[in-house]
Amino acid sequence: MPIETVASVAAQVPGDATLLAFPYDSGLAPALDVDLPVPVAGLLAHYEAEGKAGEVVEVPVVRGGDVGRVLLYGVGDASPRSLRKAAATLTRRVRGRESLAVVTPEGDMSVFTEAALLAAYSYKIGSPGKRPVGALTFVGADEEQVRRGEQVARAVALARDLANTPSSVKSPDWLAERAAEQGVPVRVWDEEQLQAEGFGGLLAVGRGSVRPPRLIQLSYTPDEPAARHVVLVGKGITFDTGGLSLKPTENMKTQKTDMAGGAVVIAVMGALARLGLPVRVTGLVAAAENMPSGTAQRPSDVIRPYGGRTVEVLNTDAEGRLVLADALAYADAQLDPDVVVDIATLTGAMTVALGRHVGGLYASDDELAKRLLAAGEASGDRLWRMPLLDEYADALKSPVADLANVEIGSRFGAGSITAALFLREFAGDRPWAHLDIAGVGRSTVDEGLLTKGATGFGVRVLLEWLAGL
Ligand code: BES
Ligand code: MN
Ligand code: ZN
Repeated sequence: MPIETVASVAAQVPGDATLLAFPYDSGLAPALDVDLPVPVAGLLAHYEAEGKAGEVVEVPVVRGGDVGRVLLYGVGDASPRSLRKAAATLTRRVRGRESLAVVTPEGDMSVFTEAALLAAYSYKIGSPGKRPVGALTFVGADEEQVRRGEQVARAVALARDLANTPSSVKSPDWLAERAAEQGVPVRVWDEEQLQAEGFGGLLAVGRGSVRPPRLIQLSYTPDEPAARHVVLVGKGITFDTGGLSLKPTENMKTQKTDMAGGAVVIAVMGALARLGLPVRVTGLVAAAENMPSGTAQRPSDVIRPYGGRTVEVLNTDAEGRLVLADALAYADAQLDPDVVVDIATLTGAMTVALGRHVGGLYASDDELAKRLLAAGEASGDRLWRMPLLDEYADALKSPVADLANVEIGSRFGAGSITAALFLREFAGDRPWAHLDIAGVGRSTVDEGLLTKGATGFGVRVLLEWLAGL
């Protein structure tokens, strides 16, 4: 939904389907020719409104012979967090309405815009139900900030759309087609090319499916020569049944979003091109469908991810790390990046550790960790740093191969840490970070900026971090 920005409120007539919202302290712009039943101060006192972000007081107004209404909203301390909450509450309140004009508050209109749009996001196949508000007009907002917020929200919405798409539709090849729509050059390895170049992780995981794996590379080069080259790697498992190590029904039904990391990478690449950020970025999406079948890999098979080291696959449900190993090793060997960040719905253990509101961050480099944590706080995609404990590396010893893909037994436990340690083996010696978004990639609630299903977590923090490089 595009947002129109206008300078003055005069033309905005609150009618039956059209609503007008003011921050409490704007004193109801005098330009607006309406009669209030009670003075604003009295109304707010009556509703015990304190001006907190998220508060909305609805007021009937009379204009000529017509009755309409305006919404008075609080913005709290006008911090980015408060502005997000205020904007999200507003667009949620007007779902199903034709339009809303918002007299915007002081403060960062980029986050205000982003939150207004994300709270209005919906994904529905079939009869639409209560639609988001038809049109949004912002009165008095900084145009450039609004456009930036729109771009960020559009990228988050794309990541959500891709992850919410049923897996019957989104094969690895389908994902490659979506990547090719982002306005940046794309290279796709099909199964034969993967075979020829030794991408043994993707091939092993994809073997059980009739829909073959793909490695998808998106390249963004800014107009000005860039000082740094960033590689972003996303897990793109288009459905994770667990393979022959089959998941139980309850755990399987959420696994269409197991390509959420790959969706974030695709969406970030599109936003980079539209925003024109001055950093060179290569995106890699390791896409495969993890299915059980007569051609599937077996627990105890030994495979060779890119680069040739051997991995004993003891659990075919630990597939994300196998496809990521290919992409990480390829980036290290062929792309000469200054920094590599991967993002993946990697482990259920991450959800146990941090829950659904904070993503897990692993990093081989303290400065990189610091910057990503700061970008997380600023963007609203909050991260918490987890330790890469060397003592736990023995969990991945295999008697028959260089590495095992899971710990057998539970001497070390800590499933998200051992998964990160597995990835570290393939990331090389460059600054590398891993975002485990298994907990935050999906929402169980329809609330604030979130809707049930895919969240697009990672788009905002990565764009914030890249913008600051
Ligand atoms: N895709 C799952 C992780 C996951 C679980 C994401 C729940 C979102 C919600 C991943 O491929 C997986 O199955 N991990 C296993 C690893 C285990 C076999 C070591 C897990 O977490 O159980
Ligand atoms: Mn799995
Ligand atoms: Zn998975």
